[in-house]
Amino acid sequence: MSLHGLLSVTIGVPNVAETAAYYADFGLAPGEDNWFATADAGRQLRIEYAPTRRLVELRVAADDADDLARIAASLGRLGLPASLGEARLETAEPVTGARVRVEVAPRLVQDPAPASVYNGPGRLERQDARAPGFTRPGRVCPRKLGHAVLGSKDHEASQSFFTDGLGFKVSDRIKGAGAFLRCSTDHHNVLVLGAPVNFLHHTSWQVDDVDDIGRGACAMLEDHPERHVWGLGRHFAGSNFFWYLKDPAGNFSEYYSDMDCIVDDQLWTPEDLEGARGLFAWGPPPPPSFLHPDDLAAMMTGAHAPR
Ligand SMILES: [Fe+2]
Repeated sequence: MSLHGLLSVTIGVPNVAETAAYYADFGLAPGEDNWFATADAGRQLRIEYAPTRRLVELRVAADDADDLARIAASLGRLGLPASLGEARLETAEPVTGARVRVEVAPRLVQDPAPASVYNGPGRLERQDARAPGFTRPGRVCPRKLGHAVLGSKDHEASQSFFTDGLGFKVSDRIKGAGAFLRCSTDHHNVLVLGAPVNFLHHTSWQVDDVDDIGRGACAMLEDHPERHVWGLGRHFAGSNFFWYLKDPAGNFSEYYSDMDCIVDDQLWTPEDLEGARGLFAWGPPPPPSFLHPDDLAAMMTGAHAPR
């Protein structure tokens, strides 16, 4: 069979309590041992201590033990070590050192969100009622972890690990700079970006629709305007609406909705995206700190040298 999604991400930060409080505000449900749950997929984020912010672990879901054996063989051909158990394979991304576990797990089945109803010219689909984005009760709770984006000093080697090693597929490429990779029908589950230093750029969390992106982001910014990074906008790669916020350790977290889904690989043609297309289709201009986070220079000069 095959890979079918991301199970969880573990982020290492120097300020665990502060960062944990941020992700509770973000709408993830806090559990034991600094685990956080999404509405549809359970525990999908863990926060742990690290001297500098980093991706510690990514867990990927596979259908069966044959997938694990195939991955072990593929990693072997790349000269990369892996420890293979009955229902789990453990290895490490060779450039960033992040731990990667592939585990046999059931496929995620999400209850369909009711279609958002929009009026258009000559099309009155919502009559005698205000837009639902204003009337939904409660706060926004992300439905699942969508993707993680890694800055890598050698993006080709990182990409090869995910594609040739684990079996991710390429959905689109940013010319000379990286690739959008999928291990499910989502357009991307991992994006590897060339960077002068290895770091976690962002994690991304699915919400029901663009109204929930706006609702979620506004709630996050109400008492913390400094959390704003970039949004509201829409990406070209993946078509998803986005709004990026920043956690207290410096990692970005994204609310997204309406991502392209690739169900039949034969019907999708990866493109080489150039210029602004690699970044977005529309939205405010990306702030310089989106591509070059404020702490990147400090990480490069070793002011926060990795272990
Ligand atoms: Fe993203």
